[in-house]
Amino acid sequence: MKVKNICCLGAGYVGGPTMSVIALKCPDIKVTVVDLNEARIAGWNDKNLDNLPVYEPGLAEVVAEARGRNLFFSTDVDTAIDAADMIFIAVNTPTKTYGEGKGMAADLKFVELCARQIARVATNDKIIVEKSTLPVRTAETLQTILDSSGNGVNFEVLSNPEFLAEGTAIDDLFKADRVLIGGNQTPSGKVAIQALVDVYSNWLSPQQILTTNVWSSELSKLTANAFLAQRISSINAMSALCEATEADVDEVAYAVGTDSRIGPKFLKASVGFGGSCFQKDILNLVYLCRFFNLPEVADYWEQVIKLNDYQKHRFAKSIITTLFNTVSGKKIAFLGWAFKKDTNDTRESAAIYVADHLLEDDANIHVYDPKVSASKIKADLSYLWELNGVTEARIAQKLTQVFVHTEAEDALKDSHAVAVLTEWDEFKSYDWQTIYQNMYKPAFVFDGRNILDSNELSDIGFQFNGIGKG
Ligand code: UDX
Ligand code: UDX
Repeated sequence: MKVKNICCLGAGYVGGPTMSVIALKCPDIKVTVVDLNEARIAGWNDKNLDNLPVYEPGLAEVVAEARGRNLFFSTDVDTAIDAADMIFIAVNTPTKTYGEGKGMAADLKFVELCARQIARVATNDKIIVEKSTLPVRTAETLQTILDSSGNGVNFEVLSNPEFLAEGTAIDDLFKADRVLIGGNQTPSGKVAIQALVDVYSNWLSPQQILTTNVWSSELSKLTANAFLAQRISSINAMSALCEATEADVDEVAYAVGTDSRIGPKFLKASVGFGGSCFQKDILNLVYLCRFFNLPEVADYWEQVIKLNDYQKHRFAKSIITTLFNTVSGKKIAFLGWAFKKDTNDTRESAAIYVADHLLEDDANIHVYDPKVSASKIKADLSYLWELNGVTEARIAQKLTQVFVHTEAEDALKDSHAVAVLTEWDEFKSYDWQTIYQNMYKPAFVFDGRNILDSNELSDIGFQFNGIGKG
């Protein structure tokens, strides 16, 4: 079967860029991305491409070419579902914040709502593609809901997890290491798998497209993220030991990474990993292992998260202890708030947790991030505090100690310490001599990303602290 009309539910970080690239590369397929959030859809339709809701290098160019041709963004979900022969589900699947599995399991309520809506609206056969990261065997749940629609429509459920990383999403889509498609090993399942293989074959080679059964595909996504996060926690664990032993974690990582069996990627010690996926997916994996009565396996993976929490905490604590055991009333400049460079995404960013810790110690936090707005930064902190049961009055009070600047200079001027939370390239080329002159002395730098030149900064006069620099 040849797919002619694709609909995607969820115009977020995954749905938006992925569908834009499919539309660009498959001009014969009409692609409609729908979302309940009207402001988000308005952003995707904005004439000014600077206002797209997702910032990704190269995305604006892709949207400029495909939008209005065969790429459409809409809030009319029912119409798009009915017209499509293939429907991607790319709504968010956050960690549950309530009830059974709170703080661990993935919250599938949005995915379930999508399935119910598809079941209600569909009048002809459709292929449903799980794009959101989901627990293993979710396809079974989806199939059950879809099949109970009662209007005689056949649904074939595929798993097609997303491996793109933010900041390089467009490049990752253009030149994917692999695309994974899982489906039922039945005749109709194989037809559905082939239909999706044909979509990707418009720009990827057969070697890049892997097909598996549906459970392997679902589990591969969780496994890939768990392995990547585990590497970061492993090097971050060594960073603490480096600090205690006068070793240099970047030298250790380089030496270890040149072993071709280990490889050099994902060995950059940092203030801790963030992003929408790693923590959520590992917690989900841990929950699944406990569910299947595998406590040793669950504990093993949970340690990756615990180590990451430790790293964020350790960084904040080192700022407090180095600043003579208190940051009360002191101005701490935060360079960066996004969870990594080249994105405006702040989900689970280490900066949020470091700021929280320092605010508990009564610091004044002055943030500069080239892509993140003041309202987002304040919303991130408020959300964390609300989850932790902090009262509204206390939240309002804490926020009076958070200042967000549109110029780095204003965040840095008259500060007691600078903390680098995101590895934005521009921080490396700042005039650190002038920054030093305008700070309180001793002037401290805490480089949570090891991007600054420690020798140069020390020569200027800074008290320099890197991650894993003994
Ligand atoms: C994705 C995946 O879906 C998630 O499982 C994966 O682990 C990370 O990335 P992402 O695209 O980053 O999520 O989420 P988000 O940017 O929050 O986008 C989801 C969109 O779905 C939002 O715009 C939201 O408004 C929309 N949505 C949500 C709906 O349209 N309907 C719903 O019922 C729920
Ligand atoms: C990740 C996966 O890479 C991707 O395949 C999956 O689809 C979604 O989750 P993403 O969260 O966008 O992508 O970013 P990634 O580049 O993996 O970085 C995650 C976090 O780890 C960031 O906070 C980053 O700064 C940190 N990191 C990464 C390190 O601290 N050290 C490293 O060596 C690499």
